[in-house]
Amino acid sequence: MPKTICLALTGASGMPYGLRLLDCLVAARCRVYLLYSPAAQIVARQECDLTLPAQPRAAVRLLAERCHAADGQLTVFGREDWMAPVASGSNPADAMAVCPCSMGTLGAIAHGLADNLIERAADVMLKERRPLVLVPRETPLSTIHLDNMLKLAQAGATILPPAPGFYDRPQSVADLVDFVVARVLDQLHVAHALGPRWGDERVHPTPPPGVAS
Ligand SMILES: Cc1cc2nc3c(=O)[nH]c(=O)nc-3n(C[C@H](O)[C@H](O)[C@H](O)COP(=O)(O)O)c2cc1C
Repeated sequence: MPKTICLALTGASGMPYGLRLLDCLVAARCRVYLLYSPAAQIVARQECDLTLPAQPRAAVRLLAERCHAADGQLTVFGREDWMAPVASGSNPADAMAVCPCSMGTLGAIAHGLADNLIERAADVMLKERRPLVLVPRETPLSTIHLDNMLKLAQAGATILPPAPGFYDRPQSVADLVDFVVARVLDQLHVAHALGPRWGDERVHPTPPPGVAS
């Protein structure tokens, strides 16, 4: 059985992470339920020149072609589609990522608002104790943001800031994006081959003179 992953795009900066994650989930043959907020549509246009259609069917046509999804592999749900499987604990996805995650959506999930399908689907993941990965983006962070993140981590969510490491000597923005997306895929338990893993001797140079090996 393919894994079913719910991916939500919200209106934080970092849309390249979310779109690359979508590509990788499709390539890994996951079934993907995609949700996005109106603010995510604005950010996608601003950051990626991508117009995410308001209508789910149009969105499936566009995105399935863009990421070479098989028929039926990608489903897009509207903001208040309460009949979507992810709206209920009786039929949740295997895991969910909110990537990128705005402080607004993060706060709403932390406080259980469930006022739109993204917030409700995340609420369901927490109550069903399934993996929920949040990729929050803001800087600097207020105590409100930090409190909300702590609350979510205590409720079982994984808080995964898009903070790429530089020890693999990234050569491009795509490398930086892949570093973060690889960590998200790990948390979703989806196999991938994005970049090297720590300890792979083929890619890590020997330490400089004077440093213990
Ligand atoms: C281009 C752009 C970039 C934004 N970047 C961020 C951001 O990095 N973090 C954040 O929390 N909000 C950011 N915002 C503001 C959110 O989009 C706004 O708070 C919105 O209400 C979030 O709605 P949503 O959580 O339903 O997507 C940005 C907005 C725009 C237009």
